[in-house]
Amino acid sequence: GKGEYRHFMLKEIYEQPQVIGDTLNALFNPAERTITLPALPFALETVERVTIVACGTSYYAGLVARYWLESVARVPVDIDVASEFRYRAPPLQKGGLALFISQSGETADTLAALRHCKAQGLWCVAVVNVPESTMAREAHAVLPTLAGPEIGVASTKAFTTQLVVMAALCLALARARHAIDRATEARLSRGLAEVPARAAEVLKYDDALHALAQEVAEARDVLYLGRGTSHAVALEGALKLKEISYIHAEGYPAGEMKHGPIALIDETVPVIVIAPHDGLFDKTAGNVQEVIARGGRIILLSDAEGIAHVGAGVAHAVTLPVVDPFVAPILYAIPVQLLAYHVAVIKGTDVDQPRNLAKSVTVE
Ligand code: F6R
Repeated sequence: GKGEYRHFMLKEIYEQPQVIGDTLNALFNPAERTITLPALPFALETVERVTIVACGTSYYAGLVARYWLESVARVPVDIDVASEFRYRAPPLQKGGLALFISQSGETADTLAALRHCKAQGLWCVAVVNVPESTMAREAHAVLPTLAGPEIGVASTKAFTTQLVVMAALCLALARARHAIDRATEARLSRGLAEVPARAAEVLKYDDALHALAQEVAEARDVLYLGRGTSHAVALEGALKLKEISYIHAEGYPAGEMKHGPIALIDETVPVIVIAPHDGLFDKTAGNVQEVIARGGRIILLSDAEGIAHVGAGVAHAVTLPVVDPFVAPILYAIPVQLLAYHVAVIKGTDVDQPRNLAKSVTVE
């Protein structure tokens, strides 16, 4: 049941410190700070290219993973939504690695892509939350997310646990490929090990996010901006908002604003910026100033340093804890979930069962 919570979605958001910890503990030895993946039928050091296929929120987990796998494990990544991948006829390298990310393990397009890749001779690994699902059965190997049953149609804890699995896979690949030195590996592992505790800290900002929800609930359109892994979080934030509040929202790479969407900016369009103080922060801060100069209302999700450096004119800022940039997308996913949740509650929608949506999309 929902216990003390009003909706399954809220309960599942609050379960994240626990289920992130469970997922991590199955892959990670905290004393030695090393990743141990379940047995794989191929050697990680032979992986030269990764293909990622998924839908919806699971696809956004794949987008985060692309940044990680390319920048940390130095492996080229091809990623697409399953409904496009299936019909693109991409040339695939026999013996390559394909990852299928799916909460349900039953999504029709993702499953079809898995079957296609398997027939082409790729190693197929399923990152799934339902261990007895079709994808888990048909893949060569499974990397499980231990989120437990996700009842709310809007995916929350499945997303953050998918990210934990992908981060662990990234570290294991980076080591196998000799792509990172020991010091970097130790720093990234430490960052990952701290995620459950940091997630609990981030949940304490629920009231601050709730306080912003009224303004967002009054909007007709909302933009979410970010760069790097925060771009994927922006896309996820926009998807969460539109699916449960029915407010039109778009996620954009912050640097793409000036190529079109900046035309939408006026004082009625809240612009939610995901920007931990990382290596891309100054670039995003420049985009924030461009929005402010056009009368846009910025809601900034950052840390104390980011907020100190963004400059004047931000309408609202939420000061989140300082986190390692590597794991920031896992932690910044939580405030965008909470914000969407509170907006939907104000709007009076059916948060756990939004209209027109099914938990598991088993038709093409
Ligand atoms: C969004 C959402 C959907 C799913 C998508 C894929 O909150 O729930 O976008 O992420 O339908 O589903 P799975 O992960 O089961 O393949």
